[in-house]
Amino acid sequence: MVELLPSILSADFARLAEEVAAAERGGGTVIHVDVMDGHFVPNITLGPPVVKSLRKATRLPLDCHLMIENPNDYIGAFADAGADWVSVHYEACPHLHRTLELIAGHGMKPGVVLNPATRVEVLEEILPMLHHVLVMSVNPGFGGQRFIPFSLNKIRALVEIRQKLGLTFRIEVDGGVAHDTIPAIVQAGAELLVAGNAVFGSGDPEANTRALLAQARVAAGEVSR
Ligand code: DX5
Ligand code: ZN
Repeated sequence: MVELLPSILSADFARLAEEVAAAERGGGTVIHVDVMDGHFVPNITLGPPVVKSLRKATRLPLDCHLMIENPNDYIGAFADAGADWVSVHYEACPHLHRTLELIAGHGMKPGVVLNPATRVEVLEEILPMLHHVLVMSVNPGFGGQRFIPFSLNKIRALVEIRQKLGLTFRIEVDGGVAHDTIPAIVQAGAELLVAGNAVFGSGDPEANTRALLAQARVAAGEVSR
């Protein structure tokens, strides 16, 4: 089933609880939380204290996308703060297997994120350990960027590998997800759609979420037009 994951990066950080509640009313089922350290990506956002506050504000799973160097040093803090899903960048983890064991060992669902220029084949050995693979369809660091079209090939490749290996990891897409890109993204086989600007950029986050999700469900053939 296709799901919409509102990314709070584009929300009003002074009104996070309200913004999340609105996106939840619109049908968002997982809250996507972008953690940036100013080193791995050229931007700084938030860390475990904000995750801890969000944990009190919603019952939805918190999907923490760590765009940070040395993620191993912070896995415990995110677990204590109440993170449910934690994904780390392939490009930031020289000992990825160990990092994934650490995440799972803290009772969280492990994911790996691939930058646009990283091939999906690099994950083949560790795919059985993963709850989700996150395909970055923009270069990470900022909201509101344009979707990179070749990301669709990576989604299709993941669908094929998952089938070939008989695995169950979920395929998540992050960056430039909006009305003009959703049909192609869903038809390529992605099922977890992260949207920041399209949800919180302008207008009403509840109505925006509802409209994006409705479009995704039609594209996935889950409901008719
Ligand atoms: C970017 C973040 C995204 C961001 C997506 O580095 O990982 O989660 O919020 O933003 P939009 O949907 O605006 O492209
Ligand atoms: Zn993200």
